[in-house]
Amino acid sequence: TWTPDSFVETTVAELKEKIGNEKVILGLSGGVDSTVAAVLLHKAIGKHLHCIFVNNGLLRKNEFQSVLDQYKGMGLNVKGVDASARFLDSLAGESDPEKKRKAIGRVFIEVFDDESHLVEDAKWLAQGTIYPDVIESVSATGGPSATIKSHHNVGGLPDYMKLKVVEPLRMLFKDEVRRVGASMGINKELLGRHPFPGPGLAIRILGDITAEKVAILQEVDAIFINGLKEWGLYDRVWQAGAMLLPVNSVGVMGDERTYEKCVALRAVESTDGMTADWVNLPYEFLQKTSNDIINKVRGVNRVVYDISSKPPATIEWE
Ligand code: XMP
Repeated sequence: TWTPDSFVETTVAELKEKIGNEKVILGLSGGVDSTVAAVLLHKAIGKHLHCIFVNNGLLRKNEFQSVLDQYKGMGLNVKGVDASARFLDSLAGESDPEKKRKAIGRVFIEVFDDESHLVEDAKWLAQGTIYPDVIESVSATGGPSATIKSHHNVGGLPDYMKLKVVEPLRMLFKDEVRRVGASMGINKELLGRHPFPGPGLAIRILGDITAEKVAILQEVDAIFINGLKEWGLYDRVWQAGAMLLPVNSVGVMGDERTYEKCVALRAVESTDGMTADWVNLPYEFLQKTSNDIINKVRGVNRVVYDISSKPPATIEWE
């Protein structure tokens, strides 16, 4: 029978055999899959694994530094690359959701390609692909889902993609990945993280992206997510986040009329993201969170809660 321990043992042995003394490059995202893949490979080949963690400037508040520190604490050979400015430049003035995704995908490939050239004589590219990704990429080649939102838009073939590919998790489902991660001692908080889209906050800022909007949304998101954790709600939600709407509305503060931004909070239950229901969060929690956001985040004077299910709505607003 399959157990996480036996999976780790056989996979580590196979990876050692397959890779030997060759160098491997892996892109860490801060998510569960890439992290578990990295730890497995690290067990097998140690310092021959070169991890790259790119800050696209669209991550959650403080996330780049805190996740990078965690990776270092786990003994991974990881390089943090702050390319925020490059990503923001590529997004300047762009409001179209698919064009935003494409710009981010393109810059990511450029940055990753540059970085992978710095790892001399690398032979392998490791990826945290899991079984549902394998299925999805097969159906995405012709299926209608590919045209709804382009999750993986790779144009041309960058040099790092000419490497041999190793995907130690490709036969596993998400819950198995989490169990494998736990059996290797990866901390529970990291393993229990909500999914977060590759284009990050760019697809939660409706309309064009500016550094100022990113900063506002990071504050709002941090209040919401930390609140969910404090109230013991985080683990009951499959995914949560905040959207910054391209709408100003009138409010009052003291004797002053304000005309400021509106944010939407979204929390959903799901098993795989394909369908989702909005979560019935306690009114007291919503009340407290809304007050905190409006009182603490300058530039926001209105908070709404998204009560749409998928389908027909999607989880992200873009
Ligand atoms: P939607 O919005 O399509 O999202 O209901 C379903 C799941 O996919 C995530 N998502 C993305 N992930 N790149 C990603 O890596 C993307 O462009 C992207 N768009 C959506 C979303 O966060 C949710 O978990």
